[in-house]
Amino acid sequence: MIKGRIVGTGSTTPKRILTNKDLETIVDTSDEWITRRTGIKERRISSNGQRENTSDMATRASSRALKMAGVSPETLDMIVMGTVTPDRQFPSAACFVQKRLKASKAVAFDVSAGCSGFLYALSVANNAIATGNCENALVIGAERLSSITNWEDRSTCVLLGDGAGAVVLTPSRDRDGILSTHLESDGNLWELLYSSDKGSKIPEILDTVQRKPFYIKMEGHRLFKKAVSCLADIAVSALEHHNLSSQDIKLMVPHQANLRIIQAVAEKLSVPMDRVYTNIQKYGNTSSASIPIALDEANRQGLLKAGDYVLLVTFGAGLTWGASVVNWSF
Ligand code: UT7
Repeated sequence: MIKGRIVGTGSTTPKRILTNKDLETIVDTSDEWITRRTGIKERRISSNGQRENTSDMATRASSRALKMAGVSPETLDMIVMGTVTPDRQFPSAACFVQKRLKASKAVAFDVSAGCSGFLYALSVANNAIATGNCENALVIGAERLSSITNWEDRSTCVLLGDGAGAVVLTPSRDRDGILSTHLESDGNLWELLYSSDKGSKIPEILDTVQRKPFYIKMEGHRLFKKAVSCLADIAVSALEHHNLSSQDIKLMVPHQANLRIIQAVAEKLSVPMDRVYTNIQKYGNTSSASIPIALDEANRQGLLKAGDYVLLVTFGAGLTWGASVVNWSF
């Protein structure tokens, strides 16, 4: 059976660093609270005029992944990007990436699945490769969350950051590759995490008069508990699907929402923390970008070699969650 194999990874984050100490001057918070409750020490924030919009970062991360893969953009059949912060409501941010990469024959589109966007996008591309509809695919997770952050809300603004990551997929007929993706959603719980940003539900006439322009709203405490149970359950299902145990996993690369969530999930799965990749300390929660950034860092640090089992797990607005088991290729 054909499946996608990851042959290149790339990532980028904005230059500007916003530390917990900096945030103490913006909202009523402390470095101590943020570190203890989330594990975050600093995050990267896009600056205007620095080519750090979502599609700018996505293009940079993609170029790095393509370079590592030795795949030229003209040979891409598909560009699929997980994002909740595209440059514009339409066209898709993926189309801007296609234009900049000159990937003229690729079909390009965005996937909206909250923080799970990258894994959903990976699933779409992997399935397209499995059916033979696509050979070379670029899968991106990219966010400029600072553009929808309420800088007066301490319960959310301390958590978020900007960045992008990407992987290149080519077909595998061997043991290696994306063995499976497992996705779930529960729209009944949408109110635990959502954006009040402009949508068709809010008529434009009320737009400027009655509401603040955007913003993330979150019920963090309930979300925390749901995140731990959903992440652990779907990771177990994914491993059982392949008759693997947590001991077989060389590296778990989870969505970076909260260090305590990651630790709780690792404990439930009996995966020691030295086999869990975390970079939330440096970047905060970058939504769809967090897994591909972490995967690229782990890969470039030489933590992965051919044949290693990698477990990707994610959770986000929707609610959405998912897992993927990858047999690493290079
Ligand atoms: O990426 C998508 C998925 N995201 C998640 O799953 C996020 C899940 N939730 C979380 O990570 C955590 O719930 C948070 C980090 C958001 C919050 O941590 P918590 O331990 O659940 O705190 P809490 O919301 O229960 O708030 C505890 C206290 C409250 O004060 P009182 O009512 O006890 O007096 C908050 O007002 O902490 C207060 N608080 C803060 N204090 C200082 C909330 N935010 C802050 C802050 N600085 N930034």
